[in-house]
Amino acid sequence: MHLRRLFAEDPERGKRLCAEAAGLYLDYSKNRITDETLRLLVQLARECGVEERRDAMFRGERINTTENRSVLHVALRMPKGSSLVVDGVDVVAQVHEVLDRMADFAGRIRSGEWRGHTGRSIRNIVNIGIGGSDLGPVMAYEALRHYTRRDLTFRFVSNVDATDFVEATRDLSPEETLFIVSSKTFGTLETLTNAHSARRWIVDALGGEDAVARHFVAVSTNAERVAEFGIDTTNMFGFWDWVGGRYSMDSAIGLSTMVAIGPENFAELLAGFHEMDEHFRTAPLAENLPVLMGLLAVWYVDFFGAQSIAVLPYDQYLKRFPAYLQQLTMESNGKHVTLDGRAVDYPTGPVYWGEPGTNGQHSFYQLIHQGTPLIPADLIGFANSLNPLGDHHDKLNANVFAQAQALAFGRTEQEVVAEGTSPELAAHRVMPGNRPSNVLLAEKLTPRLLGALVALYEHSVFTQGTIWGINSFDQWGVELGKVLAANITPELTATGEPELNHDSSTNALIRRYRALRH
Ligand code: F6P
Repeated sequence: MHLRRLFAEDPERGKRLCAEAAGLYLDYSKNRITDETLRLLVQLARECGVEERRDAMFRGERINTTENRSVLHVALRMPKGSSLVVDGVDVVAQVHEVLDRMADFAGRIRSGEWRGHTGRSIRNIVNIGIGGSDLGPVMAYEALRHYTRRDLTFRFVSNVDATDFVEATRDLSPEETLFIVSSKTFGTLETLTNAHSARRWIVDALGGEDAVARHFVAVSTNAERVAEFGIDTTNMFGFWDWVGGRYSMDSAIGLSTMVAIGPENFAELLAGFHEMDEHFRTAPLAENLPVLMGLLAVWYVDFFGAQSIAVLPYDQYLKRFPAYLQQLTMESNGKHVTLDGRAVDYPTGPVYWGEPGTNGQHSFYQLIHQGTPLIPADLIGFANSLNPLGDHHDKLNANVFAQAQALAFGRTEQEVVAEGTSPELAAHRVMPGNRPSNVLLAEKLTPRLLGALVALYEHSVFTQGTIWGINSFDQWGVELGKVLAANITPELTATGEPELNHDSSTNALIRRYRALRH
């Protein structure tokens, strides 16, 4: 069934198949669905218990069964004064206690009151973290740059490759630099290695260990390890095991974001998250944006064999949004067994990828338009630019609508020939169309809107994971590589010829590396 036909048969389709919440308008009419498909997908959601599991999450039940944890990122954005009692503790009160401390700290940095060891104000903030302790802060900083203090410099160090740290700090003055060491566990190799190098950088430049207190703060759930590292726990901002790393940008992990945009804008960000949470919690499934987007993902992955979904923000500020979504979606739903440990016999988590439009158009869109894989796409546009300049913005957004149109309707052979293409070249110029897309349209990229957008994808991931019957909140698959790397590290540096007991490929690679290493 072609989208051309679906639109021809129902002139109202483009007005009907849309939904709106928290400042986001979703046009999902250009999907290969009928009213019957929608009805059945909603029924699928109901039969798979999306509503029950959602309500269990909001109640604080331990739905992350493999780690025996609640999943309560939604509590991070509940308004002050509301309450959610889990195991006898009001988690919302805890959240706001930390938010207040963060606001006080951010205010002291922003006002220049917080001084470094030599008495100079802090001008540079470097977040050290990886995965959820990095991607959210980087994405939010880039997305909300318009709202940031331009006299402060923000950098983000994540990779254990020393180049990351060296390039991020080479033009900074240690006297004016504050490191935020962000790690839920405070046991992550990359983050601890970078944090130790940062400490050496500060101590060497400022003359002693006593400089550490004014140049380091920590964000973690693990006070013991923070203290062991040498950061005073009065300079630590906590969060809780019920916040997954990839769901933590609105916890204390957002400290760099708060310093950059200020506590009021951070509160707006949280309000946007909360507005979408409330929509997800209360709207009927058939009008529920995250549920609809989750169902459409399941539809293409399981019924059409789609292996990836492209996310294409038409806003330069959202350039890191696809990278952020990659952890959110793929660490969550990259699973091969159900909650009770049985192997699934259907595809689960798709690859999410993308780049800002219009750059992607001149790069990989060809594959989406005329390639053989089916790649559903989310196009994200804003009606107003934060940097109005001539006619740039209307040209940008004309592309949002034109791409969705071209993907859906394509160009038939008759049209191509009628335009004067010779019959032998016609096949090359035919655009098959029938390529599904969602268009998300909002008034303007604000902190509030960003919160709503992230929450939309969080709950879409939840919907998908629930239908697939998998645990979207653990990530055991990333552990094995960490263990193996820890075994290999000493073999790379050992003096003499270490005995290697790996497979022949790994052994040969280690020997080659050792031979090439100076
Ligand atoms: O290796 C994966 C992971 O555990 C992510 O889930 C997490 O966001 C990241 O590492 C960083 O972990 P931490 O915040 O504990 O340093």
